[in-house]
Amino acid sequence: MAEDTVAAVQALAQRAASVCVLTGAGMSAESGIATFRDAMSGLWSRFDPAELASEEGFRANPARVWAWYAERKQAVRAALPNAGHVALAEYGRRRSGVLTLVTQNVDDLHQRAGWPQTIRLHGDILADRWLQPCPSGRACEVAQALPGEPPRCADCGNLLRPGVVWFGEMLPEDAMAAAEQAARACELMLVVGTSGAVWPAAGLAAVARRAGAKVAILNPDASEIDDQAHWVLRGTAATLLPRLLDSG
Ligand code: APR
Repeated sequence: MAEDTVAAVQALAQRAASVCVLTGAGMSAESGIATFRDAMSGLWSRFDPAELASEEGFRANPARVWAWYAERKQAVRAALPNAGHVALAEYGRRRSGVLTLVTQNVDDLHQRAGWPQTIRLHGDILADRWLQPCPSGRACEVAQALPGEPPRCADCGNLLRPGVVWFGEMLPEDAMAAAEQAARACELMLVVGTSGAVWPAAGLAAVARRAGAKVAILNPDASEIDDQAHWVLRGTAATLLPRLLDSG
């Protein structure tokens, strides 16, 4: 990767009045959390997203989906923020008011690295929620969960489900609006560790570029949105972000 590319992005990151960072699963790869589409290790090379990451899949086999998310929650809880997460949080604190951090990830590593205000586009794997509003209009109460089964409401049979955005579901409106606003307002957008395969998150790079921002992509491999970048830095989150963001 050309040193002058790193120097150009580094210089802009140190002087820009607003920086928007969009992260994907590659951001957490060096923390030991599997990505979705990496050729061999990616989750979707071993599991069918339609069965495991959709409401239909959950309704068809709640215990299977609940068990898969329990495994992923365990991996998230055991993981630690990597040097990339830490570099982003320290940069945001040091350059107050400059950073808007938007993530597609459902882990809590940005937050645990010290950036609680991270905008979550795809929800939070550690925050379960009810599958549907309680038909009786009361607040659902968790009954005694059967082992391996998602907890059920004792009253109406409602099921708890992972608090993530599944395929076919809408993204949280406020999060997407805040992300679009930050993409339109920023001078520099860093796109870190995403294949750019899933919309509307993948479209944020084009929103930033159209609004006049410089876009840099940080990814060891090609992504579907490389053509939106002014600079492509072939490297990993935990090695590149400290180089680009650590002060002088
Ligand atoms: N540092 C940076 N990037 C990395 C690293 C790393 N250490 N390791 C892998 N990558 C890159 C891969 O090259 C790939 O381009 O991270 C990207 C991960 O892509 P995906 O697995 O598709 O993850 P993501 O882009 O976040 O997926 C978007 O799809 O399944 C849905 O909801 C899920 O939020 C997810 C969305």
